[in-house]
Amino acid sequence: MFKKLKPSLQTCYWFDFLIFTFYNIKIYCLPKNTFFKLPFHNLGENTYYYLTKPFLMKLKKIILSLLVIILIAVGGFLLYVQTHYNQSFDESHPVTELKVKSDSSIIEHGRYLVYGPAHCAHCHTALENIPELEKGVEVPMSGGFVFELPLGNVYTPNITSDKETGIGNHTDGELYRMLRHNVRKDGAACLELMPFFNMSDEDIHAVIAFLRTVPPVKNEVPKNDYTMMGKIIRTMAIKPSEPAQNPIPFVKQDSTIAYGKYLCESVANCMGCHTNRDLKTGAFVGEPYAGGFQMGPDKSTAMYTFITPNITSDPETGYLRLYDEVGFIGRMRGGRVHQTSPMPWGPYSRLSDSDLKAIYRYLKTVKPVKQKNAGPMIPPASQS
Ligand code: HEC
Ligand code: HEC
Repeated sequence: MFKKLKPSLQTCYWFDFLIFTFYNIKIYCLPKNTFFKLPFHNLGENTYYYLTKPFLMKLKKIILSLLVIILIAVGGFLLYVQTHYNQSFDESHPVTELKVKSDSSIIEHGRYLVYGPAHCAHCHTALENIPELEKGVEVPMSGGFVFELPLGNVYTPNITSDKETGIGNHTDGELYRMLRHNVRKDGAACLELMPFFNMSDEDIHAVIAFLRTVPPVKNEVPKNDYTMMGKIIRTMAIKPSEPAQNPIPFVKQDSTIAYGKYLCESVANCMGCHTNRDLKTGAFVGEPYAGGFQMGPDKSTAMYTFITPNITSDPETGYLRLYDEVGFIGRMRGGRVHQTSPMPWGPYSRLSDSDLKAIYRYLKTVKPVKQKNAGPMIPPASQS
């Protein structure tokens, strides 16, 4: 069609024409016989369409109004995001009236979970305290550890019983909602960093009973600061966590596969780290326990990159092939090899034999997956 045009004719195509109109180039001063041949109207040698000034003016108006509409839509969306990224889920997930039972054996069980398998202390303490925690010191859970995520920086809160900066003024119901649904006291939903939404009521109550005995430590933790993308994702995609069933069945603490599964999925978070995930939303994207999830490089890993290993028992690539039950318990008790690994080795090293057996027995039943991951540790120098 282009070729068919006579070279002597002044022609103009849609694209030029839009640009002319938009930039107000002196299109209206062209000689009277100027025409714009529209490429989809080729009606023969002497039939042309003329674009008149009123038409051009109208078109200009339409284009400008479209631009204004787009601007208003984008502006409105951003305003919506700005006011909704911390939207409250109080209505859909109200705080329940709850007063947890407490006695010395419940508190002891809570302490075991908090400093052991549930490793609350590993996240809810400052980075400097982690070496002490690894040695077995019950470091204060005064928060301040930062997760540097694509969404922005998320700080772990102070969960000591301090009334101003900690959870001293949280009710049992508020703490329960946090652990069951990942909804904070202020009603905002959290990225699923804590995997406890399928923990049994008995265990959650024990954790709360123990938290009530923790002495207050005053420490004001910075507020989370999200990137624009983080705010958008929070507004559109981050919802309260939901337990798989209601009520969650009680799982008896013993060395069975069932209890091992419960620990790995809902308490110790082995699955949460040893399965590949989308860092923006936390969604699981890999085969369970086949690893490949990247953590770091950031301050907490001393700028090393960690890629979680495959802990299925695949005969070529699964780390579990390396261990029998005794060997596995020995490895878990042995603690960290890589100094800045994000795996909470300290808390796990203090698990009971029975819990470690349960974990091993369960992992042995997990579908072996052939998947070789990079790492597990990549030093800063070789990252470019
Ligand atoms: C993997 C790290 C991690 C572990 C393990 C962890 N937490 Fe958290 N916790 C966080 C982060 C991060 C937040 C803040 C989330 C946010 O603001 O989006 C948080 C928030 C909280 C809050 C919310 C306080 C508020 O503002 O209402 C409580 C309570 C809490 N955690 C208790 C616990 C307890 C109890 C455990 C152990 C059973 C635990 N956490 C284990 C990372 C962790
Ligand atoms: C916060 C993330 C995280 C959690 C939670 C986690 N791991 Fe890991 N794990 C890692 C990383 C990273 C490595 C590789 C670096 C290292 O060895 O420390 C690793 C390594 C391992 C290894 C290989 C060690 C070796 O040298 O043979 C085993 C086995 C393992 N994890 C088992 C577990 C089990 C079981 C759990 C749950 C009780 C668990 N992990 C929870 C991140 C995690």
